[in-house]
Amino acid sequence: MTNEKPMRVLSGIQPTGGLHLGNLLGAILRWVRMQDEAECLFFLADLHALTVDVEPSELHSNVREMAAALIASGIDPGKSTLFAQSAVPAHAELAWLLQCTARIGWLNRMTQFKEKSGKNREGASVGLYTYPVLQAADILLYQATHVPVGEDQKQHVELTRDIAMKFNNDFDVELFVPPEPFIGGGTAARVMSLRDGNSKMSKSDPSDMSRINLTDSDDSIAQKIRKAKTDPEPLPVEPSALEGRPEARNLVGIYAAVTGESIEQVLSRFAGQGFGAFKPAVADALVALLAPIRDRLEELRHDAAELDRILEAGAARASEIGTPVLARAKAAVGLTR
Ligand code: TYM
Repeated sequence: MTNEKPMRVLSGIQPTGGLHLGNLLGAILRWVRMQDEAECLFFLADLHALTVDVEPSELHSNVREMAAALIASGIDPGKSTLFAQSAVPAHAELAWLLQCTARIGWLNRMTQFKEKSGKNREGASVGLYTYPVLQAADILLYQATHVPVGEDQKQHVELTRDIAMKFNNDFDVELFVPPEPFIGGGTAARVMSLRDGNSKMSKSDPSDMSRINLTDSDDSIAQKIRKAKTDPEPLPVEPSALEGRPEARNLVGIYAAVTGESIEQVLSRFAGQGFGAFKPAVADALVALLAPIRDRLEELRHDAAELDRILEAGAARASEIGTPVLARAKAAVGLTR
């Protein structure tokens, strides 16, 4: 069925905290590249943000701030549909229908819920538990074929496929398109913390030194890279020799992803050199990527009215696509005729 449909790209990001290098390499910069290849919808997942404690007075301004960050990174509202999830009520409505399709056993396998709820499972919100079903609604509402995400979201997209197929099968319709997770290669799929090469770079890590934020100054980027955890060995010739050296592998992968080179090319230039030589090159490459985005963000973030206008236009366009699909889903389950 996927092959018959034109390619439609959809992805989202939670408007909690600012963008970090993991978001950029794992998702946003890949979204930017897809804009010329397919119809694209990108949204700020503000309903998902409610699954954990958020400050009500900050939520809407975070949505705007994240929209500005996406535009500064290259998302063009003239090409792509950019909107806030909560501005299209069909997401929440479809999520309810899909909660009645998804099985508890399926949700019990979701590793992100286990990680996020931690030891306090009984105290987690029900929304955190059913989070992946809302994510399925986000995707299926637009009959998206490709969902560009980092590796941490792969399980949620696979669950979405299962929900789509069960719904189509249960109600004997060909409505939902099982989507493909679209994950970047190499380090882009999973950028790791600068303090621990075995855990992913994340906005919830209490140490700010673990991540590069879009808003970091050039000096702060250089300092974080200088202090990044490494090992005492020089860089190897062969990529396979990076196995078992997670921090070295991460820095080489970041450099490759940022410059667009392969791991082999990077190693052929830096093999035999230590991190004293390599780290400044990584910092320079990061500054060259991030400084222009940061400067554009600084200009855009002040125009709240323009950002709201872009988001409203995006929500109107998204509703146009999603509303007929929701209507068909309601008819399929028998709520309407
Ligand atoms: P979120 O807001 O956590 O992250 C946004 C995107 O950034 C990717 N990402 C990373 N990629 C590589 N390395 C990292 N260290 C890293 N950290 C984050 C994420 O994989 C993601 O692509 N549940 C989603 C938001 C969402 C969504 C959707 C996505 C809601 N509905 C529908 C796709 C389709 C989330 O929390 O992403």
